Amino acid sequence: MKGEVWLAVWSMLFFIVDAEIKCEFEPDGQMFHMCNATDDSDNILQRGLVSDKRKTFHIILNQCNIVSIELEAFYRLPALAILDLAENKIESLPLGVFDRLPSLSRLNLSYNLLTELPLGIFNHNRDLSVLDLEGNSLHNLKPGLIDPLWRLYQLDLSHNFFKGNEIVPALFDKKRDISILTLSGNDMTEANFLSIMNNLNYLYMDGCKLKVVPKLATDLNMKNLRHLSLASNEITSVDDAKTFSKLKDVMKLNLSRNQIVFIHKDVFKNLRYLEEIDLRYNKLTTLPIDMFQNIPKLYELRLSYNLLTDIPLNAFAGTELKRLSFDNNNITHLHKNFLLKIEDAGLMLRIMHFGNNPWQCACLRELLREAKEMEVLYDTDKYDGGHPVCVSGKDFYCRRDEAAHDEFIRMYNENIR
Ligand SMILES: *[C@@H]1O[C@H](CO)[C@@H](O)[C@H](O)[C@H]1NC(C)=O
Ligand SMILES: *[C@@H]1O[C@H](CO)[C@@H](O)[C@H](O)[C@H]1NC(C)=O
Ligand SMILES: *[C@@H]1O[C@H](CO)[C@@H](O)[C@H](O)[C@H]1NC(C)=O
Ligand SMILES: *[C@@H]1O[C@H](CO)[C@@H](O)[C@H](O)[C@H]1NC(C)=O
Repeated sequence: MKGEVWLAVWSMLFFIVDAEIKCEFEPDGQMFHMCNATDDSDNILQRGLVSDKRKTFHIILNQCNIVSIELEAFYRLPALAILDLAENKIESLPLGVFDRLPSLSRLNLSYNLLTELPLGIFNHNRDLSVLDLEGNSLHNLKPGLIDPLWRLYQLDLSHNFFKGNEIVPALFDKKRDISILTLSGNDMTEANFLSIMNNLNYLYMDGCKLKVVPKLATDLNMKNLRHLSLASNEITSVDDAKTFSKLKDVMKLNLSRNQIVFIHKDVFKNLRYLEEIDLRYNKLTTLPIDMFQNIPKLYELRLSYNLLTDIPLNAFAGTELKRLSFDNNNITHLHKNFLLKIEDAGLMLRIMHFGNNPWQCACLRELLREAKEMEVLYDTDKYDGGHPVCVSGKDFYCRRDEAAHDEFIRMYNENIR
């Protein structure tokens, strides 16, 4: 009996309510605070709601309609390591607001309305290692701002109003060793500040208005890069065989959602750790047979949403390809015994996406049979007989002559697309 009462009390949650924000925490040590807005009104964060708690380690104030924060709101939180202020309406922060947070290690200010950060605001946050400023209205960061952040390794500046040519290298002068940098959704066409970085492992430049693969993302000082994402830009061609040649350690390249019509066939050569290439949503019409050959670690290749009419038979020799997608292209047939031949070449495909192509029914049937026999997974829901997926002439055999392409594509466009 006694045990039961004790349990009930122990598991009860405690609340502190201040204006329109309610915080919930376990009384035991008060390590973790989850706060929510109770209605839609704007809130000013004051001292007393989350402040003055010796043991608090983690505070979530996400979506609390906070418009401003008073200087003392985070006073006396010596243990606070994680502070989440994302998705509020904070327009500015008073200088000194984070000064009493010596243990702060992750700060999330994403999706607020910040237009600037006062110089000195992080002067007492030496342990801050992750800073997320995504989705604000920042135009610039002042040189010196991040200098005190000894441990900073991840910085997210995406979806602000930064311009590459307005970010001065001096901003990173003392923080050349940042490991993860996200610049997506800012105009980075004329950026040069990356040339001083020397330890980037992950670089995200999606939606940066790039018309070519930028040199600054592929130079010698990027040799530690593991992921490079250049998705959703305006790149039309990758002409130079040496474009990525200095990225000796790169494991993942994302070029999806560009306008790429041409890629030099040797551009991925000698990238010995390259595992994933994403080329979806481009305008590729042909794959040179040796473009992907002998990339020893390649296991995932995404070619969906291009204009390919063929996947060459030996295109993946010398790789470890396991996942291949080429759905939504312009393919009417593949080579005879495509999957068998791929296996003969020493590959073990596990997953293949090939739907939404103008398939000839006879060719598709061959491929499906092969996929089933060889236990290659594919999007089965598309071939449930529920909706048309292929076109067929009078004679039900797989035509592999040149003329077949145009004929079946036309038929497919007229009847299915
Ligand atoms: C706050 O919101 C989160 C997510 O919406 C929910 O899981 C949590 O229970 C809420 N807490 C309180 C105290 O209302
Ligand atoms: C910051 O918060 C946003 C919104 O809740 C979230 O999507 C993002 O992952 C968080 N950032 C970090 C670095 O945890
Ligand atoms: C490439 O980037 C796009 C857009 O950001 C994303 O949706 C996709 O998942 C990325 N691909 C890989 C393989 O990470
Ligand atoms: C598909 O390929 C044919 C050539 O085989 C070409 O004429 C046609 O324009 C292509 N369709 C699209 C949508 O690119």
